[in-house]
Amino acid sequence: MEPSNFFRWIVLVLLISVLESAIASNTSGNETDRIALLDFKNHITQDPFQIMSSWNDSLHFCNWVGVKCNPTKGRVTILNLESQNLFGSIPPSIGNLTFLTGINLVNNSFHGEIPQEIGRLIRLQHLNLSYNSFSGKIPSNLSQCGELTIIWVTKNELVGQIPEQLGLLSKLVTLAAEINHLSGTIPASIGNLSSLYILSLMQNSLRGHVPEQVGLLSERVRDIVDGSLLLEEEEYVEVDHVNEESKMEERAIISDGDPQSSNARSGIVLDCLVSVLKIGLSCSDSLPGNRIPMNIVAKKMHAIRDSFLKFKRVNRI
Ligand SMILES: *[C@@H]1O[C@H](CO)[C@@H](O)[C@H](O)[C@H]1NC(C)=O
Ligand SMILES: *[C@@H]1O[C@H](CO)[C@@H](O)[C@H](O)[C@H]1NC(C)=O
Ligand SMILES: *[C@@H]1O[C@H](CO)[C@@H](O)[C@H](O)[C@H]1NC(C)=O
Ligand SMILES: *[C@@H]1O[C@H](CO)[C@@H](O)[C@H](O)[C@H]1NC(C)=O
Ligand SMILES: *[C@@H]1O[C@H](CO)[C@@H](O)[C@H](O)[C@H]1NC(C)=O
Ligand SMILES: *[C@@H]1O[C@H](CO)[C@@H](O)[C@H](O)[C@H]1NC(C)=O
Ligand SMILES: *[C@@H]1O[C@H](CO)[C@@H](O)[C@H](O)[C@H]1NC(C)=O
Ligand SMILES: *[C@@H]1O[C@H](CO)[C@@H](O)[C@H](O)[C@H]1NC(C)=O
Repeated sequence: MEPSNFFRWIVLVLLISVLESAIASNTSGNETDRIALLDFKNHITQDPFQIMSSWNDSLHFCNWVGVKCNPTKGRVTILNLESQNLFGSIPPSIGNLTFLTGINLVNNSFHGEIPQEIGRLIRLQHLNLSYNSFSGKIPSNLSQCGELTIIWVTKNELVGQIPEQLGLLSKLVTLAAEINHLSGTIPASIGNLSSLYILSLMQNSLRGHVPEQVGLLSERVRDIVDGSLLLEEEEYVEVDHVNEESKMEERAIISDGDPQSSNARSGIVLDCLVSVLKIGLSCSDSLPGNRIPMNIVAKKMHAIRDSFLKFKRVNRI
């Protein structure tokens, strides 16, 4: 054989094997999904409603309870097991469900860590894990899920810092992590999230100020941020002062046109009233879908109260 023919032959063999492995990996894609789902099932230790019994071989996995597939590719796109009373954990193999766009395990008893492998789900848009017992840290590799719009991990046992890398999630609309044990400060990188609409971090152990960059995001984001963070610098105020000031606050609000009130004070009272009116309007939109949810209303009202109290403390009125 001539050397040039020999090389052509080698190239041909290589091409064929590359093609074969490409075809093999395509056909085994759905098999990878099936194995990953079965591994997920193996990590469910209690299932009082027995919903996982539908996850059996006589039914295609696209028809298993809580599983939705892409109709053309037959790959898993949604895992929705909300409020199914499940007790278990998420195995690292979740990262093999590479076509997932949504995970919803809200209101169950999942525990253990949120695996870093979730960062391999580059199509993921919704990560809804609220009302469970997840522990450990928010995985920093989540920053690789560039399509994420919702991270909702309210009421879990999460610890550690909010990963700075989350500032890379340019499509993020909601970052809701209230009622956890998160510590440290809010990373300044969050200020780069220009799509962010809800940043909700109440009832954690966060400290320090809301970074200026976050404050520069839309007004909306700022006013639902944990009000207690904004108050941090006034923490030295003794309790009886607070009581005294609450009484003053009541007076200020009920006696409009109080001769003692300075322009500044009427200004802040007016600002507060306008904010409350705006909330009222957002609650009464004719389309229910456009109305803001009650938990957000509560947060906004708290933030208004807190910023009012802060104003009073700073100005000693
Ligand atoms: C594998 O699947 C992808 C998308 O699902 C497709 O674009 C590609 O052509 C397939 N490759 C082979 C060798 O079938
Ligand atoms: C997986 O895909 C292959 C090829 O597209 C198909 O023949 C097979 O039935 C599929 N298996 C499942 C479980 O969907
Ligand atoms: C598989 O799940 C389906 C749907 O829940 C059920 O009707 C069927 O009996 C199950 N098959 C086995 C072998 O458990
Ligand atoms: C949570 O799940 C339980 C069990 O399925 C259900 O009874 C309850 O209504 C759910 N709670 C909420 C707030 O959805
Ligand atoms: C799935 O993921 C696990 C853990 O991340 C890995 O060890 C395994 O090889 C993967 N399985 C398949 C079939 O891809
Ligand atoms: C995640 O939660 C949001 C807000 O409640 C909801 O709109 C979305 O449909 C949920 N995602 C999934 C995959 O269920
Ligand atoms: C997390 O991301 C890093 C950086 O891309 C990568 O090296 C690592 O393998 C990822 N970890 C997991 C468990 O996927
Ligand atoms: C925000 O994004 C810009 C441009 O990508 C980058 O240079 C900067 O370091 C980011 N800021 C933070 C605080 O991460």
